[in-house]
Amino acid sequence: MADMEDLRDGKDFGLDRPQDKGGFIVKGNANGDWGIKRRLSRLFNPDTGRTVMLAFDHGYMQGPTSGLERIDLTIVPLAQYADVLMCTRGVLRSLIPPTLNVPVALRATAGASVLTEMSNEAVSVAMEDAVRLDACALAAQIYIGAEFEHQSIMNISKLINEGLRFGIPTLAVTGVGKEMARNARYFGLATRIAAEIGSHYVKSYFVEEGFESICAGCPVPIVIAGGKKLPEQDALDMAYRAVDQGAAGVDMGRNIFQADDPVAMIQAVSRVVHELEKPQRAYEFYNDLKAQSRAA
Ligand code: R5P
Repeated sequence: MADMEDLRDGKDFGLDRPQDKGGFIVKGNANGDWGIKRRLSRLFNPDTGRTVMLAFDHGYMQGPTSGLERIDLTIVPLAQYADVLMCTRGVLRSLIPPTLNVPVALRATAGASVLTEMSNEAVSVAMEDAVRLDACALAAQIYIGAEFEHQSIMNISKLINEGLRFGIPTLAVTGVGKEMARNARYFGLATRIAAEIGSHYVKSYFVEEGFESICAGCPVPIVIAGGKKLPEQDALDMAYRAVDQGAAGVDMGRNIFQADDPVAMIQAVSRVVHELEKPQRAYEFYNDLKAQSRAA
């Protein structure tokens, strides 16, 4: 075991020397096998190496939260503008048309709700079913510092082991318990552990201080969650700063589907992520689209 008496925070993240991607669009994945790279090439836009994932898996734990009461009415119209859909298999089969050719990151754990200890999850989807659903990624929370930390690390490990048998990458989602600090030290720890155990990419949160170091210290891509609903311009600003500081895109839910005009918002987010459009311009684009849809 490492000497626990001299744990030092990392200082030199080599921010002026980006990690060599080894000729593949997805950082840290150049040595994956063909099926893994094939799926990652669907999850990440080959031209930009970035992605706009639309997350609407919240119901597996939260029930019909605002904006997700009727996924057929609120999410299906947005889906064509996303690079990836992140959802449960229940919603996928019930409500998402199989003719929609957008890759899926499949929520692969369950076992808790907002009424209980959220970290008490287990792998809930059989790999055969993930294959049957044409999943491009398997997604689960890693709860560092939570009551069921060990179990969540083992869940991710199991998904990685099983996913590798079928060429399906795993997305580790840094779950934040109610009591946990949301700072660079915490997310640097959680994202690095997720990558070290073999996750192909990691979902985390943007933080004001030290986000660039979190991305640099994680050898695979980081995509950011949107978190709680912000004013649209602020959400676009957060997406811009995240990508500018090293994120490979977003896995955004509430800041898209709870926006005043979700269809306009996802297109504005996409401009920021793929074209590095400045937040002010992206917000003007959002307002133009919103005005057009109201006039129609
Ligand atoms: C959590 O239950 C899920 O992984 C969500 O997909 C995640 O929190 C992202 O959604 P939001 O952008 O709303 O935070």
